[in-house]
Amino acid sequence: MSDSPLPFTVTPSEVAREASDISPGAQKTVKRLGVWLVGACGSVATIAIAGQAVMRRGLGGAIGLVTSRPEFASADLAPIESFVFGGHEIRKTSLVASANGIMRACGVADVFESIVSDLEEVDGRIRPGITRACGREIERLGINVPPIASDLEAIRLIRKDLDAFKAELGLTHLVVVNVASTEAVVDANDAWQSLSRLDEALTTEPSVLPASSLYAYAALSAGDAYVNFTPSLGSRVRALNELAERRGAVHAGSDGKTGETLVKSVLTELFVRRNLKLRSWFGQNILGNDDGRTLSDPMRKAAKLHSKDQVIRRMVGYQVETGVGIDYVQSLGETKVAWDYVHFEGFLKSQMNLQFTWSGYDSILAAPLVLDLVRLCHLAQLRGERGILGALAPFFKDPMGSAESAFVAQDESLLKWITEEHGKTLQ
Ligand SMILES: NC(=O)c1ccc[n+]([C@@H]2O[C@H](COP(=O)([O-])OP(=O)(O)OC[C@H]3O[C@@H](n4cnc5c(N)ncnc54)[C@H](O)[C@@H]3O)[C@@H](O)[C@H]2O)c1
Repeated sequence: MSDSPLPFTVTPSEVAREASDISPGAQKTVKRLGVWLVGACGSVATIAIAGQAVMRRGLGGAIGLVTSRPEFASADLAPIESFVFGGHEIRKTSLVASANGIMRACGVADVFESIVSDLEEVDGRIRPGITRACGREIERLGINVPPIASDLEAIRLIRKDLDAFKAELGLTHLVVVNVASTEAVVDANDAWQSLSRLDEALTTEPSVLPASSLYAYAALSAGDAYVNFTPSLGSRVRALNELAERRGAVHAGSDGKTGETLVKSVLTELFVRRNLKLRSWFGQNILGNDDGRTLSDPMRKAAKLHSKDQVIRRMVGYQVETGVGIDYVQSLGETKVAWDYVHFEGFLKSQMNLQFTWSGYDSILAAPLVLDLVRLCHLAQLRGERGILGALAPFFKDPMGSAESAFVAQDESLLKWITEEHGKTLQ
């Protein structure tokens, strides 16, 4: 591992202090847990923030939250009500305006008026984001971005915003979640292979990382947790894991598993365990929200299709003809519909099929998972863990740090991780 200094000032002492403060049951003392959403006015972020406000006001339950299952009770996770939000956004809009539209589209507008003041408070903590190497479509959205000359300047700016948020609210822990629009696929850069090469490239090359990874760098460099809920590159870079390990930070990703892929990861196991041979699996998704519009760009769609198409091949161990389509259908609004056709072979080579339709509000399915991921990353922070959190695999289509693709097995590993004794703290 390289010992080269990072190209800008970070605060490792703060990380060490937080980690060494850990004591059993420390979670109970959590008063406020910082949550920073990149893409703060998008559908997923808006429903996550609005949902937490609804829960805090006792106006709604916890259905859809994985960590509200009884199995998680012993983990003593930070209460959802303790979350305080801030975020980066590149569009000139407000959370109040987004929530008004999205909550209506998801059929949950009845509680909107009761949480307007909570949303306004978060609006006051949303800062202009950065757009670098994330594709022209996103850069076109970015009308509220400061002029930035280099990746390094972008990292500094993000870090400054995160530090100001922590200082203003007196936060000891922060989890940064990327729920920004999917970026176009970027070509790999040799500098991603190690932290020393990355740090050098950041000082010599004008553009080394896309925006999702610059946010990750900024978060991890000060020991904050980073979660990539999108298929964008994020922290999926060897050098950034090295940074996380060094700074005592945790990270997880990528691409939230909320709909068709979730069903796939359960049904595939059925075929494997019954020894039925999968021959082909084709799915078509249609959706009408901004995420759908973003994904109508071929480069961004490629990133999404890559993570959606992984599951079956990984689980069966033989070649299956697969295909996934995504199309933007504006009239559907927040609704996402997926049709899947599964061709399989049974006893005596008999040919059969399974077909299903999934229809859901994408952000209603995704937002509670974002809240779950924050609680679980915070638990890992308290335990003094560092690096990739492979145990969070059931939340992702393309999980980092786990070779397991079967949903039930992933969930069992998560429960095991939850109940493990973690006495270790950073020295
Ligand atoms: N909804 C789901 O079920 C689901 C599931 C898995 C993954 N995801 C992923 O989560 C992400 C968010 O989904 P969504 O439906 O909320 O999308 P969205 O388009 O509604 O929201 C994305 C937001 O990010 C903002 N943004 C874009 N680039 C940014 C940048 N560089 N910095 C700061 N803000 C930026 C946009 O202005 C927009 O407000 C997408 O990448 C999507 O693919 C969503």
